[in-house]
Amino acid sequence: MNDYSTPALDPAYLLQQRYRGDAPGIAELNETLDVLLSHRSVRAYLPEKLPATTLETLVAAAQSAASSSNLQVWSVVAVEDPAGKARLAALAGNQKHIVEAPLFLLWLIDLHRLTALGQTRGVPAEALSYLESFLLGAVDTAISAQNAVVALESLGLGAVYIGGIRNHPEAVAAELGLPPHAFALFGLAIGRPDPARPASVKPRLPQNVVLFREHYEWGERQRAAIAAYDERLREFQREQNLPERDWTEQAGERVRGPASMSGRDGLRGVLHQLGFDLR
Ligand SMILES: Cc1cc2nc3c(=O)[nH]c(=O)nc-3n(C[C@H](O)[C@H](O)[C@H](O)COP(=O)(O)O)c2cc1C
Repeated sequence: MNDYSTPALDPAYLLQQRYRGDAPGIAELNETLDVLLSHRSVRAYLPEKLPATTLETLVAAAQSAASSSNLQVWSVVAVEDPAGKARLAALAGNQKHIVEAPLFLLWLIDLHRLTALGQTRGVPAEALSYLESFLLGAVDTAISAQNAVVALESLGLGAVYIGGIRNHPEAVAAELGLPPHAFALFGLAIGRPDPARPASVKPRLPQNVVLFREHYEWGERQRAAIAAYDERLREFQREQNLPERDWTEQAGERVRGPASMSGRDGLRGVLHQLGFDLR
């Protein structure tokens, strides 16, 4: 169960936080849904170590996710050393929550293991050079990491994904001692949420923007719903004392062009250097 002082198992309250209006009806609520609907990224932690075996528990949850053809093409590197976290934080755009978190996990697409096993058997593992294998690795890594996030949130811990580590993939690979064909897809900073600096549930797009029945839809209905969402997000930002900005504008700027990609526009070339052919 979460420890965010929200009324437990109250679907109306949880959905109101998530959607702020246009909240869908849901049939029932249980403890799993309570954890899922209560998610928020946590960037402020208490300065305490995590309980022994927490890491192993999270990895067991992650390994319990489905895996494409059971290939299990991911690995995770756990970093607790303050100096290591500081170096990785610097590579991720000086995100100080990485340093503050007692545990920083680096989730890897790991095609090295099957490459090495192929070499040992003397059998080619040529399929690994295709874009499809990289994509498969990204899917498996992400769904496994998300299992760990749900698990840690159910334990009262908090986390934030760190895509910022893709700003400098080669330096991150060197820092972690990665072999060829392994790529750090994202990080995950984990700790016990500091109650003095609580995070709030961030509203999401109304469901009629993302959920279609039988066929895709894009028209006035969606545009109007997104305009309403811009307003709700502004309300959220006001409450958080954040600068007010429409989601439409924020998202639009993020995808405007290479200049808004924090150096990641060169990722294809870097991946080639890290051993991924992406044929
Ligand atoms: C793959 C991924 C990468 C992310 N990278 C970062 C990051 O580098 N730094 C950060 O502070 N938040 C990062 N986030 C967190 C998002 O900003 C956050 O999930 C989003 O704003 C929605 O907020 P919520 O998680 O509190 O609902 C990332 C999230 C995902 C899924």
